[in-house]
Amino acid sequence: MRVTNLKDKKIASDYVAIECLKLIQAQPKTILGLATGNTMTDVYPRFSELLNANDVDLSHVQTFNLDEYVGLEPKHSQSYYTYMHQLLFDHNDSWQTSNIHIPQGNVDDLEDEAQRYEESLKRIGQPDLQLLGIGENGHIGFNEPGTSFDSETRVVDLTESTIKANSVNFDNIEDVPKQAVSMGLNSIMRAKRIILLAFGERKRDAIKRLLNEEVSENLPASILHNHPNVEVIVDDTIYKNL
Ligand code: F6R
Repeated sequence: MRVTNLKDKKIASDYVAIECLKLIQAQPKTILGLATGNTMTDVYPRFSELLNANDVDLSHVQTFNLDEYVGLEPKHSQSYYTYMHQLLFDHNDSWQTSNIHIPQGNVDDLEDEAQRYEESLKRIGQPDLQLLGIGENGHIGFNEPGTSFDSETRVVDLTESTIKANSVNFDNIEDVPKQAVSMGLNSIMRAKRIILLAFGERKRDAIKRLLNEEVSENLPASILHNHPNVEVIVDDTIYKNL
């Protein structure tokens, strides 16, 4: 696991956007694993800009998002479907709707949806690159502490601390979904390469624990020590206090 200080969110987001661009240029059939959340908000606009500047054909690119909130319609302003479309997919005409995979959180049979999602992930293939943020409690995807390392896509309960952290994007804490459909830790680990981003004071302890604690299901992100190709990108705030 390599840790790199890219100073701030802007430089780090530029780096990730460039890595995604280079991957698609070299391999038009790239499979990208995408994360949402406040960590990623500068990555996708920059990526869109670079894709347009280079007239990149995206018709063979497949994308898989990590998760979606349970109970929100895709068109809800805080769904990850809306997030991804507003920040990325609406900005280039060559994205193919059928190649964009985001779990649905508003269907009657959520377990069936989770299974369907995992099956498409296995059928279409391992992501060439998986982007990850990290929760303050060390979650990746919405795999909260205690999640089995063998987990695949399923319905998960969010912890109080995750609900609180997610509430910054909602008017009332009561409106924040308490469950999500999330790729599992085993699903995430199948990616060929992983970049985890973390910025700011609030994420410092999670990164410190990731670097110092032993691999354990109490710290879901620690599974990444078992992956051969993981980069952890942080900013000055985190790096200087590690
Ligand atoms: C989002 C996701 C989560 C977030 C994490 C950090 O798709 O899977 O693991 O990456 O909760 O969220 P932010 O970036 O909002 O601090």
